[in-house]
Amino acid sequence: MAPSAVSTIDNTSTSGTKNTNAAKPTTPIPSLEVGLLEKLEAPLADVPSIARAFEVIYHNLALTASDQFLPTPIRALPTGEEKGRFLALDLGGTNLRVAVVWLYGGDGLKVCTQGSWNIPEHLKSGAAEVLFRWVADRIGDVVGEYLGDVGSEEKERILSEGMELGVTFSFPMEQTTHDSALLMPMGKGFTFTTTNDLSSLLKAAYDDLLSTTTPTYPLPRLDIVAITNDSISALLSAAYLHHSTEDVRAVAGIIAGTGTNATCLCPVSKLPASKQPTSGSSTGAILLNTEWSIRGTAPPLKPYTTTWDVQLDLENEKPGFQPFEEMVGGRYLGELVRLVCLDLFSSNVPKSQLPEKMKLRYGLDTKLCSDVEASVNDDEALSLLQDYFDPDTSSSTTSSAATTTSSEEPEEWKWDLLSAASFRRISTAVSTRAAALVAAATIGVLGVNDELKHHAEKQVLVCYTGTVLEKYPTFRERCEGFMMEVVERWVAESRIPPAPSGKRRAVRLVEAKDGGIVGAAVLAGMVKEGRT
Ligand code: BGC
Repeated sequence: MAPSAVSTIDNTSTSGTKNTNAAKPTTPIPSLEVGLLEKLEAPLADVPSIARAFEVIYHNLALTASDQFLPTPIRALPTGEEKGRFLALDLGGTNLRVAVVWLYGGDGLKVCTQGSWNIPEHLKSGAAEVLFRWVADRIGDVVGEYLGDVGSEEKERILSEGMELGVTFSFPMEQTTHDSALLMPMGKGFTFTTTNDLSSLLKAAYDDLLSTTTPTYPLPRLDIVAITNDSISALLSAAYLHHSTEDVRAVAGIIAGTGTNATCLCPVSKLPASKQPTSGSSTGAILLNTEWSIRGTAPPLKPYTTTWDVQLDLENEKPGFQPFEEMVGGRYLGELVRLVCLDLFSSNVPKSQLPEKMKLRYGLDTKLCSDVEASVNDDEALSLLQDYFDPDTSSSTTSSAATTTSSEEPEEWKWDLLSAASFRRISTAVSTRAAALVAAATIGVLGVNDELKHHAEKQVLVCYTGTVLEKYPTFRERCEGFMMEVVERWVAESRIPPAPSGKRRAVRLVEAKDGGIVGAAVLAGMVKEGRT
């Protein structure tokens, strides 16, 4: 995903939605492409009704699904007063991050020594123990560095008392206590199946590491105090920093990164007995890990599922597992664009003439789409595409996508301004569809706890983390625009009350920066203070 390629240009596409640099065609869009774009843009006219369909299905899933709307042991949001020094671990779909985080109560927080690694592909399959032994080594790297940086007093304290660890784990889990979590089937290319307890896996791996340390490089004991999903960490971290005030309510956390997910606070009374806490108060609320991308979410998506979605799913490691994620997750956006482009470009030339990466499954990174959408014009888009697909010959440009030699043998297909403009339009259509679906699902989730039916005077904050929302040019703005469209329609239809005194009902997306790391530490702080 593009780390910083954010464009400031904001055009209006044919569908009437804001997008990045939508190409301003000087020549008509080829009719085959018009047909492809129409299929991708079909949901854009229906966002309020898709949101309603999500709301209905999420109500049902909260009541009946055993793999979605999972209860967690968390019953409250942070007060913002939590304090302490915690080790935080964030295991996502693409990266592992480990950091030491200081929480200063009312005075914010500091992320100290930290490390970030790409998770090697070979660790995503096979035995979970091998992945966790690698994770333990990375914990050792960060803790060792921290011990090397701090004064002798802090070092002695840590070595004698150990460190408290908060874990963000970006996968489904079954949880009844803060310090344990049973792994459930995973997506995002992770194929190992284990019903093991995450805490035992991590402890065993870290103990194994400890058994190899020497007195010269000692490591402390670790106490796993909190484990949670990344959607929950996003909400907790943002709520820690901007907790609810008279005018604002932080009510949900969403992730749009490699994968996608959401959490919301739900009144216990709305849940079936099987999802209610077995101890503690039977009133109040509970944070749910919705796992909103898993198969139960499919029905509202059906009318908008294209042949490319079907193909991507059939070729996925777990067909049918996360249909929603396959339409919006960063792992998949580039692959969808590749499949659509392959259809379009192979209508003119044999597939064999197309660039190798265009024919290769996952050959097209979502980051390229992000960069192309951020590019200022089709010339820049063209050079990005040439560099990516054909770095050796990227300086040569042809005037048409397929050229012929004098002997009538087709030459190798090459990028040109027309095909670059098509790529940009297709990429924009795929990412705009994703933004619309995330917006509809978010409003649907807020329907589960009737959030929008109450507190009409407050601005609702949806806290987010994830590279797609954070880095993909204007994705957040497009998503927020669709959310507001739904809210306004629902106010007009009296499905939710208007804001008092003529103000606009507002649902805003706020970034939970470093949400995985910070949220893990915040939850550890909440657990230590007994306020969860
Ligand atoms: C996982 C969720 C996670 C989401 C975002 C999904 O694939 O099932 O647990 O929150 O990705 O990382």
